[in-house]
Amino acid sequence: MSALLEEVRGARRDPALAVLEGFHAVKHALRFGGRIERLVCADVADVQALADALAPDVTEAIAGAHEVGDEAMAQLTAVPATGHVVAIARRPAVDLIDVLADPSPRPVVLLEAPRRLGNIGACVRVAAAADAAAVLTTGPADPWHADALRGSAGLHFALPVARVEDDAPLGDRPLVGLATGGQPLGPGVLPARAVLAFGTERHGLSDELLARADARVEIPMRAGVSSLNLGTAVAVTLYAT
Ligand SMILES: C[S@@+](CC[C@H](N)C(=O)[O-])C[C@H]1O[C@@H](n2cnc3c(N)ncnc32)[C@H](O)[C@@H]1O
Repeated sequence: MSALLEEVRGARRDPALAVLEGFHAVKHALRFGGRIERLVCADVADVQALADALAPDVTEAIAGAHEVGDEAMAQLTAVPATGHVVAIARRPAVDLIDVLADPSPRPVVLLEAPRRLGNIGACVRVAAAADAAAVLTTGPADPWHADALRGSAGLHFALPVARVEDDAPLGDRPLVGLATGGQPLGPGVLPARAVLAFGTERHGLSDELLARADARVEIPMRAGVSSLNLGTAVAVTLYAT
């Protein structure tokens, strides 16, 4: 067990790997072609029964999991993982130039220095659901942190997710800053292939990013409401396109 504990701890620190905690995170990683390098269950038969009930497409992949029992599983995760399953997966490489050059109208979501890992996960989850082209983040938070993967239910494997420099070139895509005081969001307002930029939870978009933006768009809100939660703002915007 101590070797497995060390392996999972090592994976949490390794920027090439990701730790998936919980059945849904593992399910989506398997479903969207994630390279799972280690799959650990408290009880393999229990997790297979869960898969049979909720996601039969992944039942077979769980058969080869390493079984460790409840006590050992509790040491592998900070918060008990749904279905008592943990995996180590390789992070897919993201080619930023390819992502930006994608000619389809699908937008790219850019999160400027998000702070809360759960919010990053929520944004990745809705971006995957809405079939966005990618989620890019700036700032120190690791978008592939296990807590962000929990928030996305493992949907990081469904689209490119990467951290980029603050001033990363965005190719020929129009840059749209989502911020109050902009043009009201509505049908036809967002251009095709946009990079949709959302600000940090506390301070919103930086002046630098707003100065670079080709357009500023706001989600109309009732008077007195200051702002929407970051994940909610991303969801409303993506589904308005
Ligand atoms: C929690 S909000 C930031 C609130 C921050 N105090 C501010 O003044 O912008 C996080 C991000 O969600 C987006 N957002 C939230 N509400 C919005 C709205 N009504 N219109 C456009 N963007 C919004 C913005 O990109 C914002 O930077």
